Amino acid sequence: MLPWKSIIKIQKQSDLAVYLQISNSIIKEIKRGAIKPGAKMPGTRIMAELLVVHRKTMVNAYDELLAQGWLSSQPSKGTFVSEHLPEIHPIKLSNAKKEINKSDTAGFSIKINSSIHTPYPTLRGIQGFHDGPDVRLVPVMELNKAMRSVMNRKSSLINFSYVDGEGKFQLRKVLSDYLNDTRGLQTTYENIFITRGSQMGIYMLTAVLLNKDDIVIVGESNYFYADITFQNKGAKLQRVPVDENGIDVHAIEAICKRKKIRAVYVTPHHHYPTTVTLSAARRMKLLSLAEQYGFIILEDDYDYDFHYQSSPILPLASVDRKGMVVYVGTLSKNIAPSLRIGYVVAPKNLILELSKYRQLIDVQGDPFMEQTVAELFLEGEIRRHMKKVLKEYHERRDFMCRLMKDKLGDVIDFKIPDGGLSIWAKFDKKISVPDLAAKLRAKDLIISSGKIHDIDGKILNSTRMGFAWMNKKEAEKAVKLLHDTIRK
Ligand SMILES: Cc1ncc(COP(=O)(O)O)c(C=O)c1O
Repeated sequence: MLPWKSIIKIQKQSDLAVYLQISNSIIKEIKRGAIKPGAKMPGTRIMAELLVVHRKTMVNAYDELLAQGWLSSQPSKGTFVSEHLPEIHPIKLSNAKKEINKSDTAGFSIKINSSIHTPYPTLRGIQGFHDGPDVRLVPVMELNKAMRSVMNRKSSLINFSYVDGEGKFQLRKVLSDYLNDTRGLQTTYENIFITRGSQMGIYMLTAVLLNKDDIVIVGESNYFYADITFQNKGAKLQRVPVDENGIDVHAIEAICKRKKIRAVYVTPHHHYPTTVTLSAARRMKLLSLAEQYGFIILEDDYDYDFHYQSSPILPLASVDRKGMVVYVGTLSKNIAPSLRIGYVVAPKNLILELSKYRQLIDVQGDPFMEQTVAELFLEGEIRRHMKKVLKEYHERRDFMCRLMKDKLGDVIDFKIPDGGLSIWAKFDKKISVPDLAAKLRAKDLIISSGKIHDIDGKILNSTRMGFAWMNKKEAEKAVKLLHDTIRK
């Protein structure tokens, strides 16, 4: 008989149940070869006495081993170590170092996608000129209350199941009303497809609408993640200049005369990254070119609700009579990026294709969150919140721009943005923005190096500086640090 008492060590303080400690020890000895396949195991009563445990504990340990296939029981003969154990090839110690470390390297080949960079650490826990809304202003209480109310309802049980891939009807309906009301769109809920953020909208539209070698016109420079989404599908980017009136539509026309264009991607409200607004005249021209040459306008209106001057120019989608515009929006800036709620506004036949495609990637969104947000819209909370943050961000924009003009006006050139949450800042050519970003990072202040906007090295020494993230005190501190680091 094996020295079971010394083989099986039971630790009373362990969180692991005693019967599992016993079964794990026995598995270890079988794997080690100390207990051979086919060997007869002692009965549970004898083992219980040896190990000083309750008989039931021993029965549970054997049951576990039987269930996992390490033991087999033969009626009226007893319990045996299974003859059909999985093959175990112990690694010789001398070879152990040569073995692949599973956590580092896959044992199969992986096609390295070099067009998509490794995700940057977001560093949002550190203060800085982050692009995006200040999460401290998120209406947490209201969200919490509404989410609890939705969760507690019997009628919400359905949300735990598979639901409609186009998104929650209530949210599609309120968004349709909201977009018609605020942006002059003419939609019904059937034109709205809810996504997990507008990035997913761009990705799905790319998957459904673009083919390899299709030409997509984008600005120079453009929203980096849209560029790589199109390229990842095999589409070819054709860049056109962007000036103070937005994307150059005459350059687009010249290209259309020479070759077939499948789509034009624009962020007309505030061009990403330079923040300029596409003029009304250029919008009309772009729309008529789309009708004439049959290209899709992909209008990414990520920050429409953030406009500080006069009323914003209505989106291209609001004057689209021929169904050339696909409109993408998001609640990431209005409420919070982590909600992952965005939407696509499109003709019904395209919505159907998106619904079909979604079955392949995530089936559906988050019906609880979608229902919650729909109810917050209906209760007027979202509009109240927007009014509040718009006022706050307006003040923060003015404050930050004043500070920057005062302290850094000689080395940073920028125009006060009409809207959005960022300033497009051009640094003096003597200053390397990536070096500056690294120095500030060491002092716990984040500023984007601007590298993602620097297409082919053409946009030098510029970056987006988010102003919404910091209150006045923080902005003062950040600009002082920026000033001191530059002056050094
Ligand atoms: C121009 C533009 N489009 C799309 C997105 C994606 O936003 P989300 O996926 O959070 O809706 C962003 C995010 O910052 C953006 O700046």
